[in-house]
Amino acid sequence: MSDIPVITIDGPSASGKGTVAERVARALGFHFLDSGALYRLTALSAMKHGVALDDEARVAALAASLPASFRDGAVWLADEDVTDAIRAEAVGEGASQVAALPAVRAALLDRQRAYREAPGLVADGRDMGTVVFADAVAKVFLTASAEARAERRYKQLIGKGNSASLSALVADMQARDARDTARAVAPLKPAADALLLDTTLMDIESAVEAVLAHYRSQQGN
Ligand code: CDP
Repeated sequence: MSDIPVITIDGPSASGKGTVAERVARALGFHFLDSGALYRLTALSAMKHGVALDDEARVAALAASLPASFRDGAVWLADEDVTDAIRAEAVGEGASQVAALPAVRAALLDRQRAYREAPGLVADGRDMGTVVFADAVAKVFLTASAEARAERRYKQLIGKGNSASLSALVADMQARDARDTARAVAPLKPAADALLLDTTLMDIESAVEAVLAHYRSQQGN
């Protein structure tokens, strides 16, 4: 337990939680943890070392000693800038696979909790409010329909000059949701005390405002 306030923002893929969490952190001057990046880094590291993504012991060993750092807006694996590499769809897919392994989740637990530093932390992921920071002062579960999320991811990919198929993205989104929701450890689900925020028809600014309002309403409770 700690007096340092934590705001958790959990939700499915492309629900906008990363962007919302980063802006909430900036508005409050808090630290920011993108926990999904740690799972992505673990998957990328396994791929680079030729370790099968279902080899629980070896993937967990890589996760436990991940030479990862977040510096100057970039993500590093040892001395390699992997900011773009970890965002590839194949790495996201791999992240979802390694995230289903209990030993991998256990290996990343302390590392995630170490981000809790004054004056506060905004943490985004799947199990921030249910497992990693169960004592968070304010918890939010961000959702949007699979179609809306696929459309956001589509625009992101096209914007970066990649080709993409909207129908393939909807199918991928649904498959990833199903795996994240059905897994035995730390499944994707709202904490009992989380505010549910459906952003299907909401822009980022309104979502950020709603999270800040929720945090203010919880302070002093
Ligand atoms: O961008 P997107 O939301 O798809 O991915 P992400 O947040 O970077 O997370 C990548 C994958 O890591 C997800 O599909 C989850 O399976 C997993 N993850 C998790 O299990 N627990 C977390 N706290 C964060 C991510």
